[in-house]
Amino acid sequence: MKIQPDRLLADIEALAAIGDTGDGGNCRLALTDEDAGGRELVVGWMRALGLDVRVDRIGNVVATRAGAGGDGAAVMTGSHIDTVGTGGRYDGTLGVLAGLEVVRALDDAGIRTRRPVAVAFFTDEEGSRFPPDMLGSLVYAGGMALEDALDVVAIDGAVLGEELERIGWAGDAAVPGPAPHAYVELHIEQGPVLEEAGVTIGAVTGVQGISWQELTLTGQSNHAGTTPMRLRRDPTYVAAETIGFVRRLATDLGGHQVGTVGRVDLHPDLVNVVAARATLTVDLRNTDEAALARAERRLREHVAAVASAEGCEPAWRKLARFEPVAFDPAVIDLVEATAQRLGHTVVRLPSGAGHDAQMLARVCPTGMVFVPSRGGVSHNPAEFTEPEHLAAGAQVLAEVVTELAGVAERAP
Ligand code: GLV
Ligand code: MN
Ligand code: MN
Repeated sequence: MKIQPDRLLADIEALAAIGDTGDGGNCRLALTDEDAGGRELVVGWMRALGLDVRVDRIGNVVATRAGAGGDGAAVMTGSHIDTVGTGGRYDGTLGVLAGLEVVRALDDAGIRTRRPVAVAFFTDEEGSRFPPDMLGSLVYAGGMALEDALDVVAIDGAVLGEELERIGWAGDAAVPGPAPHAYVELHIEQGPVLEEAGVTIGAVTGVQGISWQELTLTGQSNHAGTTPMRLRRDPTYVAAETIGFVRRLATDLGGHQVGTVGRVDLHPDLVNVVAARATLTVDLRNTDEAALARAERRLREHVAAVASAEGCEPAWRKLARFEPVAFDPAVIDLVEATAQRLGHTVVRLPSGAGHDAQMLARVCPTGMVFVPSRGGVSHNPAEFTEPEHLAAGAQVLAEVVTELAGVAERAP
C-alpha cells in the first residue's frame, strides 16, 4: 500500500487557499466563515471517498471507512483544520489530509481492514479565539461538558455555541463520542529538534503540560504629565514587570520550561494617559507537572508583590490547564518500528505543542508521528515542511493505521 504524495500536496494547497493571508499563511480561526469554508471543502472530499460522515454537537467531524468486522471501535486518525490568526498551512491540516490519503491508499490497494478506520477533525484545536485549546477533542473525550464549551466567550466577544450555529456546523452526533480502538495523529513538529538532528520521523512520547492564564491588572487612570511618579498606580508597569519575569522564570527553571506573554491589552491605550487597566495572557508549559505547578506559583507570588507595591489589583482567570500526557508505549513502539522498517531515521521526543491526541489519550491507546519543521518555525505563515518529509510521515501513518486496524482482505 502506497500513499501518493501528489494527491496529499494538492489537498494541502487547495485547503490553504481558504483563509489565505497572502503571505503563504492561513487565517481560519475557529468557527469563522473561513473555518466553515475549510470544513465544507474537507467534508466534500470525505463524502467523495464514500466515508460515513458524522458531525457532533460541538462540530467535530468523524468520517468512517467501514471495517470487515462491522461496527467495532475504529482506529482513528486526524487533527484539526482551524488555525491561529497568523497560521501556516501544515499545522493540523497535515494530519487530516494525510488521513484522507491513507483512506485513498487503502482503497487503491483493495484493502479491507478488520476494524473501521476513521478520519476526524476536531473543533477549535488552536484555542486562540475560544480558549481552551483542543476544546473539541476535549469535549469528544468527555473532559469538558458540552454546555460549558458552548458558553465559551471568544476574544472578539462571540459565543461559541452561537458561532457554531451561525456557520451551520452544530451537528447531532452525541458527545462524548465513542472511544476509538486507538488514535494516531500525524503532525508537523513545530519545533527545531528533528531538523537539528537531521532526522525524518519523530515517534512522539507525549505532550507537555499547558497552563494558560489571563491576568487583569487594575490601577488608576491619570494624567501622564501631572501625576508624580510616587502617586502612580500604573498597571502597564506591573504588566511589563510580569512580562520580564515570565522570561526570567523560564530561563531560571531551565529544562523544558517555556513561558510566553502572547497578548497585551491596555485601556484606554493612549499616549498621555496612565492606563486604568492592563490585560495580558501567560502561557507556561513544562513536561514535568511539579515544575509547571512551581512556575505558576512563583509567577503568582511575583505579580502579587509587584502589583501591591504599585497599588494595583491583580485578577487571574484560568484559560486552559492540562497536565503532561504520556502516550501509549505500544503505539510509540509501533511508530518507531514502522519508521525504521520504511528506512527512515527516527527519534523519540515529547511534543512542545498541544494536540488533539493528548485528549484522545484519555480514552484510547494513542500516539503521534512528527515530521520536521523548517527552522522550527510554526504559528507563522513561513511554516514549511519538505514535501518528502510530508510523504514520509503520511506513509508511516498509513502503515501504523493499517497495522492497528488489521487487514481482513487484500485485493489479489
Ligand atoms: C495549540 O495547539 C498550542 O499548542 O498552542
Ligand atoms: Mn496543531
Ligand atoms: Mn497550532
